[in-house]
Amino acid sequence: ADLAGQAAFDRVIAADSRIEPRDWMPEAYRKTLVRQISQHAHSEIIGMQPEANWISRAPSLKRKAILMAKVQDEAGHGLYLYSAAETLGTPRQKMTEDLIAGKARYSSIFNYPTLSWADVGAIGWLVDGAAICNQVPLCRASYGPYGRAMVRVCKEESFHQRQGFEILLELANGTPAQKQMAQHAVNRWYAPSLMMFGPPDDDSPNSIQSMAWNIKRFSNDELRQRFVGMMVEQVEVLGLTLPDDQIRFNDETNKWEHGPLDWDEFKEVLAGRGPCNSQRLERRREAHEDGAWVREAAAAYAARKHAEQEG
Ligand code: ACO
Repeated sequence: ADLAGQAAFDRVIAADSRIEPRDWMPEAYRKTLVRQISQHAHSEIIGMQPEANWISRAPSLKRKAILMAKVQDEAGHGLYLYSAAETLGTPRQKMTEDLIAGKARYSSIFNYPTLSWADVGAIGWLVDGAAICNQVPLCRASYGPYGRAMVRVCKEESFHQRQGFEILLELANGTPAQKQMAQHAVNRWYAPSLMMFGPPDDDSPNSIQSMAWNIKRFSNDELRQRFVGMMVEQVEVLGLTLPDDQIRFNDETNKWEHGPLDWDEFKEVLAGRGPCNSQRLERRREAHEDGAWVREAAAAYAARKHAEQEG
């Protein structure tokens, strides 16, 4: 063990300061960051699929342009995050291979189908809302490249959430059928978006260590409760309801409470048996294979530029 390295690392963490790529760090810290950052990157990339499903059917040119920009933002987030993970020594190619081989995790939420246009609104409002709630504290993560990447990601996510809210607001003030479509979408996305925050604290094996290392700043349940409190106010502005009659603010604990979640369903989705898991991976594999010529061309171009410089 590198005692001086460990002591320096401990001092940085105790001072709530930042670890940078060339600093000494414990192997377990490196490993947990690669795990979380690569999962996060994969989520952004797989998350493009459910929404891209509606690009060709967006109800107007304006909606189509906004949705395309949003899906492109997600690609950008994936790329920053792969780059952040690469600073820890794991090549992007390895992370991608693990994803398409079905060996890597990505967020459970993206294994649910987008059945109507209102789902695009519900994803923006609930899913991106949950993402912001989870990711704003990650801007202060102790690993520099991750925290810095989160700043821009969160700004773009805020725009995504506003566009989702606005889609739902317009539908909720539209015809009765449109309002019903919006309500059905909220009904379907509510519980899965709460499960995005991860298992309950007493079933979250990584939380304690990640919080001690200042990677996570709040526990899964703390963030989930905070999110419910935000949504319960916003849903009133929409004129819709959340499919949970047990939401309440507990004055004694000073926390929001919500109804029980189906953690068996969550485990099934994590085990690869959610509604869309196999489709998502199949599409990702196809896209990777279809893109082989781009990677080959880029590599050949880089090699030629390099040879020209040498020559
Ligand atoms: N979907 C899939 N897997 C999950 C989820 C989820 N919603 N929540 C937890 N898990 C996995 C964890 O990855 C972990 O598995 P692993 O040990 O094989 O890696 C296991 O369940 C146990 O969970 P925790 O011990 O609570 O794991 P962790 O401390 O990493 O907390 C969390 C999970 C909160 C998701 C954390 O990793 C995190 O904040 N990640 C960054 C945010 C992120 O990835 N967001 C992606 C979706 S948002 C978006 O892309 C728009």
